Amino acid sequence: MKFLIVSGARPNFMKIAPILDVFESTGRGSEALLVHTGQHYDEKMSGSFFRDLGIREPDVNLGIGSGTHSQQTGRTMIAFEEVCLKETPDWVVVVGDVNSTLACALAAKKLCVNVAHVEAGLRSGDMTMPEEINRLCTDAIADLLFTTDTMADENLLREGVAPGRIHCVGNTMIDTLMKHIGRARAMPLPCGLEEGRFAVVTLHRPANVDHRETLAAITGAIREISRRIPVVFPVHPRTYGRLADFGLLAEFEREPGIRMVEPLGYLAFMGMMARCKMILTDSGGIQEETTVLGIPCITMRENTERPITCRIGTNVLVGRDAVAILAAASRALDWTRTNYAPPELWDGHAAERIVRILVDRAQPEGTAPRTGPE
Ligand code: UD1
Repeated sequence: MKFLIVSGARPNFMKIAPILDVFESTGRGSEALLVHTGQHYDEKMSGSFFRDLGIREPDVNLGIGSGTHSQQTGRTMIAFEEVCLKETPDWVVVVGDVNSTLACALAAKKLCVNVAHVEAGLRSGDMTMPEEINRLCTDAIADLLFTTDTMADENLLREGVAPGRIHCVGNTMIDTLMKHIGRARAMPLPCGLEEGRFAVVTLHRPANVDHRETLAAITGAIREISRRIPVVFPVHPRTYGRLADFGLLAEFEREPGIRMVEPLGYLAFMGMMARCKMILTDSGGIQEETTVLGIPCITMRENTERPITCRIGTNVLVGRDAVAILAAASRALDWTRTNYAPPELWDGHAAERIVRILVDRAQPEGTAPRTGPE
């Protein structure tokens, strides 16, 4: 069987790496081609992740680049359709919830190619998030839905998905974390930081950075926190642009406790996250990684598609209000690490389960054989 494994943006790379590894070692003769859509394309957002994680050169790079949601999704669909027609895969495997995920799932499904979605069933309930639309639409059409925990299974069952399509397999991002955490911890900490004595900030959601008032409230809270504990802030390109546009960059850069750095590679970032006192973020994946690392995570969002991390107790949702962010940071400063138990299947073997199910699987029931476009 032939599989196309799709990756597009930074949060995809750590999710596909272990799947490719397992295909290579135990794929039982199946062919797995790597398609990079090029949604993220520069060294900091893409190249360094390929190197850190030992991901091979993509077999195909669609070179899609930046644009509006429709431009990105549309361009990816058109380019990926051509790849599917040329390669005639049996399965397309998409991961996560970025625009590339939905675009490739849609293009494949319209050619009657089977689609597997890794990290299915996550729901924030927030339809203003582009990722929520991507999740809902991808899950609606995928043949196989690989979930990270049973709360995701419950979401899918509540939406009427047939139980046979759902496989709770664990978390491939955590496979990657477990494989590389030793190397990550051996990386030097940037800016002379000392273990356990600094906070990390990441910020990139449009809802947090695209409106001046919201961004000013959040950056105000971060400046306040930096007077109590040094803060290191790897700045996403979108956020850097908005800070500059809104005239917030200079005051932020002048704040003595804040170290603004460029986006970091996987090992440098993971090494820093594993040794910080707390992280303030609006990322999705970081909520899960901190749950495994036992690091307090303060999520600057009103909702999360990863409620299991709050249930376990490492993650707390604080919204965008400066007072709430500061209160949570004060609590985290006094927090002593306890041993948190991550969800059962976050054990470093999710990719093995996924590949086993995929290669064991023939044509999914009720799916017509691949015929190409009409
Ligand atoms: C995308 C994902 C989001 C994910 C995030 C991680 C969607 C809808 N959003 O958001 O789910 O959490 O990636 O970063 O798919 N840029 C560069 N270099 C790059 C890529 C982007 O400088 O390699 C700049 C461009 O100015 C671009 C901006 O960053 O316009 C935003 O990139 P984009 O891919 O549109 O969305 P993200 O905000 O990164």
